[in-house]
Amino acid sequence: MLKEQELRIGVIGAGGRGRVAAHAHLPGKGSRVTACCDTNPETLAACRELYGAELFTTADWRELLAQSLDAIFICTPDFLHEEQAVAALAAGKTVYLEKPMAITVAGCDRVLAAAAAGGGRLFVGHNMRYMGIIRKMKVLIDAGTVGEVKSVWCRHFISYGGDAYFRDWHAERKNTTGLLLQKGAHDLDVIHWLSGAYTTRVSAFGNLAVYGGLPRRNPEEPAQAKFNAAHWPPPAQSGFNPVIDIEDQNVVILQMERGILGAYLQCHFTPDACRNYTVIGTEGRIENLGDSPDSPIAVWNRRTDSYRLFPDQVHRGEETVGGEHGGADPVIVKEFLDFASGRITVTTATPEAARMAVAVGCQATESLRNGGQPQDIPPLPTAGGNPRS
Ligand SMILES: NC(=O)c1ccc[n+]([C@@H]2O[C@H](COP(=O)([O-])OP(=O)(O)OC[C@H]3O[C@@H](n4cnc5c(N)ncnc54)[C@H](O)[C@@H]3O)[C@@H](O)[C@H]2O)c1
Repeated sequence: MLKEQELRIGVIGAGGRGRVAAHAHLPGKGSRVTACCDTNPETLAACRELYGAELFTTADWRELLAQSLDAIFICTPDFLHEEQAVAALAAGKTVYLEKPMAITVAGCDRVLAAAAAGGGRLFVGHNMRYMGIIRKMKVLIDAGTVGEVKSVWCRHFISYGGDAYFRDWHAERKNTTGLLLQKGAHDLDVIHWLSGAYTTRVSAFGNLAVYGGLPRRNPEEPAQAKFNAAHWPPPAQSGFNPVIDIEDQNVVILQMERGILGAYLQCHFTPDACRNYTVIGTEGRIENLGDSPDSPIAVWNRRTDSYRLFPDQVHRGEETVGGEHGGADPVIVKEFLDFASGRITVTTATPEAARMAVAVGCQATESLRNGGQPQDIPPLPTAGGNPRS
């Protein structure tokens, strides 16, 4: 028997990222996954194993929305987010919507409007804001450790790019717009959060430098998009998606509020994987050296005329309790449960900021597909919440 106050949780897109919802399955402790939707029957069988035989399962997400549920995780491929989130909000559910919020700016604004209409409430799964290392960088920057922020750069090395993004639905722009949006939404959001400023204008270059010319799988064969360390070097690989019309390297420059300038570099054929954020202010420079929970955060704030490998200060990320994505997943799900049950109303990740990350990803993609022409970022349709704090 469910306790009366226990939140009933549904999951749409229960395979892959949908497993994040397992952090919300706390029978007897306030929340329980009671319904799962996925188009893959094997995934639904695995969900019944995980959540119990009484779990409601369906391949039709509208059927799931018709169930008696308080909150819904939407973890389907990006191009489905808009329609499913709008419907879930209209049905009065509290929604955990995976990033990116949608694959167009208009799509995001539709989701924001559905949330503003007052049915359900919206939370977007920007879990990087919940990583101990990113949280600590935010605390240090806000405390003035590097003075007033003027430059923000992110270099994103993605060794698993060829396995994760060029073998299945991710590889087609109709499903994602492109990887500046699909993958970049995280980084662009962190750039905005760390600097406390949104991007106003963007210019970008990008191309399909490596994966475009490699052997594709037959369209009838199932997609195999799993990390495989033996898949090296990239030009020796095969089995890629029949259609690839996205880029595998991108270079973006950002004009931001308060005269801040940003740069974002994304590469999908590197040997190692890391996001490196470098923030330069009027009194120093801060940088994460690696992005695992125990990676050092380095601060240089003493003037010299040569490179110093050893920084002036070394900090560590805030405590996490383990789990995937640098310990972020249990933390973000806990905050979502607090939000869904009404214990909190202000959240660390916000729908407005999520929409701004998508807007920059979309406009940067537009720029790179048009010879690098600068693009203005459409402002938020309404002033709302406290998006940058
Ligand atoms: N925040 C993060 O750290 C993070 C990490 C990975 C993925 N994601 C996001 O999660 C989403 C899913 O990515 P993924 O890598 O898990 O993809 P995936 O393809 O591995 O999984 C998607 C799941 O959705 C199911 N699905 C597809 N169409 C469906 C439909 N119409 N109705 C119900 N289920 C359907 C699939 O069967 C599959 O189980 C993406 O939007 C991605 O950006 C976020």
